[in-house]
Amino acid sequence: MRYVQLGDVPAKRHVQFRENGRLLVEEVLGFEGFSGNESILYHLHSPCRVKEVGEFVPLAREEWVPATHVHRLTDTNRVDPGGDWLTGRRLLMFNDDIEVSICKPAEERDGFYRNGEGDEVLFVHDGSGVVQTIFGDVPYRPHDYVVIPRGTTYRIEHGEEPQVWLCFHTPGEIETPNRYRNRYGQLLEHAPYSQRDFHPPGMLRTHRGRGEHEVVVRVRGGLQRYVLDYHPFDVVGWDGYVYPYSFNVHDFEPRTGRVHLPPPVHQTFQGPNFVICSFCPRELDYDPHAVPLPYHHSNLQSEEAIYYVDGQFGSRKGVDVGMITLHPSGLPHGPQPGLVENALGARRTEELAVMWDTFRPLRLSALACELDIPEYASSWYEDEPTAATTTG
Ligand SMILES: [Fe+2]
Repeated sequence: MRYVQLGDVPAKRHVQFRENGRLLVEEVLGFEGFSGNESILYHLHSPCRVKEVGEFVPLAREEWVPATHVHRLTDTNRVDPGGDWLTGRRLLMFNDDIEVSICKPAEERDGFYRNGEGDEVLFVHDGSGVVQTIFGDVPYRPHDYVVIPRGTTYRIEHGEEPQVWLCFHTPGEIETPNRYRNRYGQLLEHAPYSQRDFHPPGMLRTHRGRGEHEVVVRVRGGLQRYVLDYHPFDVVGWDGYVYPYSFNVHDFEPRTGRVHLPPPVHQTFQGPNFVICSFCPRELDYDPHAVPLPYHHSNLQSEEAIYYVDGQFGSRKGVDVGMITLHPSGLPHGPQPGLVENALGARRTEELAVMWDTFRPLRLSALACELDIPEYASSWYEDEPTAATTTG
């Protein structure tokens, strides 16, 4: 991340700072005690001030434990729009490092939300709008990743058009991969993006009005409701390295090699025991004898899940936009029969997909059971070629 300042901040930290004579409340919002990144916010009110403590509702995870261990295909197109930008998040898969949900909000929601126990990434498949946050507005458009650090109070105003988001939650931190950064944190020349591609909040709106506002905070595996007697966006200025931002996947500079390059070249973010990668439209491998599709590989220590966003994915048969393949650990996977032959000589792909690889097993939700296409597991099975086809 880079240093950002919005609104008014005093020249020095931890000194009196007033607006029209009123002493403002300084809040240091940071990670890893006081050792990680932080931002300093200046509030009109104490951020501890609550008028009413509402109820705590535990988040229920309904798990599906499949009877068999196979490759899976999940069709999220079957999920009807419903709920709002918070309640509409429907869990698909999870482990202790990551939760992945699909959200197709159909209703507006009054009130605010803050994730107090995890960072979030929203990948916007369809739709546009604004993530309004205590740090300022982050507009979003199709194919944006919106990264929202824990502790960010926000609400989402979305357009009238259909919204389809893939939502990630992690108790860890969402970061750019270490190997893309120098020892000062600046992105290196070989990184597939630069600081210019990351868009922090563009405008800070300070709300000075009173009135009741609901804030729902995710903590301890549940949602705690509070009522404030002031608008939670009461910040007159902030600066630092912690803030929400957007990154459009089309600003990812894809890599191409003489022969096939492995998935780490597509890595976009890292989290604890997982990565998020972006497969973008790109030129394919340019050696005349190259096989421009992935070779078969065994995920001995990781699970690979891919959400298909746009275009035709060359290495997959029967997989449409809006579907998720899950190739779990312990099994080999690769292109289905015939796809490699068909792909030989191809020089470009228009595929767009988001992948999350986890190093610990993923568990599936009851919703994933409803959306499961069991035929996928046998999609590599076909009759052996006859002598005529092999010699002819
Ligand atoms: Fe793979």
